[in-house]
Amino acid sequence: MTNSLWYKNAVFYEISVRAFKDSDGDGHGDLQGLTEKLDYLKDLGVDCIWIMPIYPSPLRDDGYDIADYYSVDKTYGSLDQLKTLIEAAHQRGIRIITDLVLNHTSDEHPWFQSARADKNSPYRDYYVWNDDDKKYAGVRIIFQDVETSNWTWDEKAVQYFWHRFYSTQPDLNFDNPNVQDEMLNVVRFWLSMGIDGFRVDAPTYLFEREGTNCESLPETHAYLKRMRRMIDADFPNAIMLAESNQWPRELIQYFDNGDEFHMAFHFPLMPRIYLALAQGDASAIVKILNDTPVIPANCQWTTFLRNHDELTLEMVTDEERKLMWREYAPEEKMILNLGIRRRLAPILNNDRRKIELVNSLLFTLPGSPILYYGDEIGMGDNLNLPDRHGVRTPMQWDDSLHAGFSAGTPFTEMVQGDYHYLKVNVADQMKSQHSLLRTIQKMISLRKQYAALGGNQLEWVETDNPAVLAYLRGQGDEAILVLNNLSEHVQVAHIPAEYQTSGQNLFEDRPYILNAHVSLQPYSYLWIKL
Ligand code: GLC
Repeated sequence: MTNSLWYKNAVFYEISVRAFKDSDGDGHGDLQGLTEKLDYLKDLGVDCIWIMPIYPSPLRDDGYDIADYYSVDKTYGSLDQLKTLIEAAHQRGIRIITDLVLNHTSDEHPWFQSARADKNSPYRDYYVWNDDDKKYAGVRIIFQDVETSNWTWDEKAVQYFWHRFYSTQPDLNFDNPNVQDEMLNVVRFWLSMGIDGFRVDAPTYLFEREGTNCESLPETHAYLKRMRRMIDADFPNAIMLAESNQWPRELIQYFDNGDEFHMAFHFPLMPRIYLALAQGDASAIVKILNDTPVIPANCQWTTFLRNHDELTLEMVTDEERKLMWREYAPEEKMILNLGIRRRLAPILNNDRRKIELVNSLLFTLPGSPILYYGDEIGMGDNLNLPDRHGVRTPMQWDDSLHAGFSAGTPFTEMVQGDYHYLKVNVADQMKSQHSLLRTIQKMISLRKQYAALGGNQLEWVETDNPAVLAYLRGQGDEAILVLNNLSEHVQVAHIPAEYQTSGQNLFEDRPYILNAHVSLQPYSYLWIKL
């Protein structure tokens, strides 16, 4: 598959392999199970899947704590099964990216084991050590519900080691040239196998320097650029996607001159979609997109509503966060760190109108959208499970025992109550033309049919109504007017004279006359081709 700009208008789909489909009845989803479900993804219109870490790991952070960078944990299958998956996906025109965890390893990685056991080990300097815990003072703690410091004392090493995430995830020392080379080898290994790129986990924190916040340092960018040069030279169709939770003006450093990352998640847009909905007012979305600079032509944003982590509210004010917690996380147990550990459908009270509306935004605003597995059918979460595990439960395929996920006992407790698999599953929603799944499928197919929806051209349309977010995508021959009513009441949108014309309602596939005013039902949306 060649086309080096494929990611600029692609629909991504994030998967926890463990939770997707179990092929052998051991209760754990695996690579073969995922391979069996590729036709489902193809049908849905997915262009690229992002699989969460499948490397050997003690799973203190669900695989983001890697104990071996060069193999696949046996519960998922083998490297050969991964190759089969890649081939089968490519045959269907679907690409696969995986997580690349650069910043840290598991404390069970042989490098760390050797480093802590022996001051003279060649691996000692693979990590960041200090005699006291005072260095890099003031650097923020990310997992603040669990960790009280970025330093942890190691009895064996008789020193403190540095970690930005859990204390079971020691940070690698990127000042060591061997670490730098080692990680380039890891990249080469997976790309040679046919992987199409990486969601680069936490690239912000690679280097540390006294007197800074240790984030996005020049040394970090220089190393990431080096990685990009290697990828461009040897694997020109592969991508690097940055997971860096920053303001757009800071994030664009990660694109720089189009010579660092191909893509970056637009983190600040995500909470503003929910905020705008809670406020019944579009301005938060308008403001953040107006604050988003133009990016190089070979770069693209990735947009999303949910992922495998908590819905992070780091990028809103204290007041906005309180409002969102009140609205979307009314019970204490729904909150994690600065976010909300729930899935899309429960966050929106399973209100079909709201779920469709936020997806309307996702599929019509600029950027390549990422869906989180199960959100296309409105799956629920399981708040009995700790940490972020409640949003990583088995995919609900049908109403047979264990949701058609596994013939054995699933690795975790399934979702109960209103979102039980008897009520929410793929098979049922396939049967009905009116299901959420069918609607999402339609949105994806429209997005692909009309290049205007995939480009980055966006013009706000003034409707004299703050509850209505209206914009024009594309231009000339292909222009699409999108209207979204963010409020719980019927709203009237004024349509400026230049758009008062005849068009086509893309969902109903019939003519639509735009008059001076359009009346919009609560939480409704319209996509009109002019
Ligand atoms: C990223 C991942 C998250 C993980 C963390 C540490 O933020 O999304 O799941 O816990 O990195 O690797």
